Amino acid sequence: MADSLPSSTNVLPVCEPVPFIDLVAQYRQIKPQVQEAVRKVFDTQRFVMGEEVAQFECEVASYCDSRAAIGCASGTDALVLSLIALDIKPGDEIITTPFTFFATAGAIHRVGAIPVFVDIEPDSFNIDTEKVEAAITEKTKAIIPVHLYGQCAEMDPLWRIAVRFNLGIIEDACQAIGSTYKGRRAGVLGTIGCFSFFPTKNLGGAGDGGMITTDDPHIARKLRRLRVHGDQGGYDHVEVGFNSRLDSLQAAVLRAKMPLLESWTAARQQNAAVYEELFRKYQVRDQITVPAVLPERNHIYNQYCIRISRQQRNKVLEHLRDVQVGAAVYYPKPLHLQTCFKFLGYQEGDFPESERAAKEVLALPIFPELENRQQEIVVREIAIVLERTPKSARTPVLPPKFMQQHSTQQRVA
Ligand SMILES: Cc1ncc(COP(=O)(O)O)c(C=O)c1O
Repeated sequence: MADSLPSSTNVLPVCEPVPFIDLVAQYRQIKPQVQEAVRKVFDTQRFVMGEEVAQFECEVASYCDSRAAIGCASGTDALVLSLIALDIKPGDEIITTPFTFFATAGAIHRVGAIPVFVDIEPDSFNIDTEKVEAAITEKTKAIIPVHLYGQCAEMDPLWRIAVRFNLGIIEDACQAIGSTYKGRRAGVLGTIGCFSFFPTKNLGGAGDGGMITTDDPHIARKLRRLRVHGDQGGYDHVEVGFNSRLDSLQAAVLRAKMPLLESWTAARQQNAAVYEELFRKYQVRDQITVPAVLPERNHIYNQYCIRISRQQRNKVLEHLRDVQVGAAVYYPKPLHLQTCFKFLGYQEGDFPESERAAKEVLALPIFPELENRQQEIVVREIAIVLERTPKSARTPVLPPKFMQQHSTQQRVA
């Protein structure tokens, strides 16, 4: 790898490692609140569901402006339970994107239904709504748009299609808590919304956890049953469900973090603005496509994914790994090309935008506690591979005022 780098890299000072995400830094800020929340649960010895879960459900419902929120064991379970709540049966077809985390399509398969993929828009990485209608057959029962990386999919056209063809919409909002579309939050933009509290999410637990939002009281009742083996109360099982409860400890930790969610998201957005400035300063802007924020949307940057040409992306990734700067590819293999979905009959070339994205995207550190200095290291190291590093860039190129303004703003929590 070093052979392909400009010779100037030989004399660069040793690079300070930059983590991809630093949950320890987050915990440092909130340790007393989290420990107190955990202590209270231990004092009551009520570890499953209970008051903490009920309160957290109310808080999430209020935050998303949904009538109901139902806690469950993970984002994956939220998707599975939602599909069952919509009466999805084996053989039904569910339209979704192939450019997402595996769980979206895994959940569809898990309930015996068939994932039908539709390609993405190149700018938002979300499902291309103009291509959805062509994928509808008499077996289609629902659409699962994914609000990838924290930006909502184009929901209005999806709604029009759903109403015309009598389809349900399950939002996979697992990466998008707090994200908005036309002023409304993810989770109330479809029939049902699914969230994940995996530790790296903008609101992350101390383990797995999930939540389902809906305005439909019938669906909410069904979901509350399904997560406890179909029990409608008093060991009266009216259907077969699952054990998919949210632990009290998770709810307590998430409640302690919830008041900080908005400021953490604002810090992520400020970090995104700093990256744009740095890309310009390091003269790499023409080689990098920064995430597009589409009109009437609020991107919450669960991931900050740039695009670099496929020839350069892997070189950049390899170099960042060499110098211990965190970076990742979400996702390197679209779902229609996954071995386990071979039986669906898709082939390379079926979804060119998803396949191109898989070869070009690169997620950079964006966590709220990230410092401007660390961001400059990330960009400097990218610029080295792209052979754009001016010699002067070995010292910070951002004017001190800019640095200070952003570093104070991002310490919002
Ligand atoms: C888009 C998407 N869908 C579903 C999931 C599944 O969530 P969980 O890991 O909580 O099961 C995730 C989690 O990473 C996700 O990013």
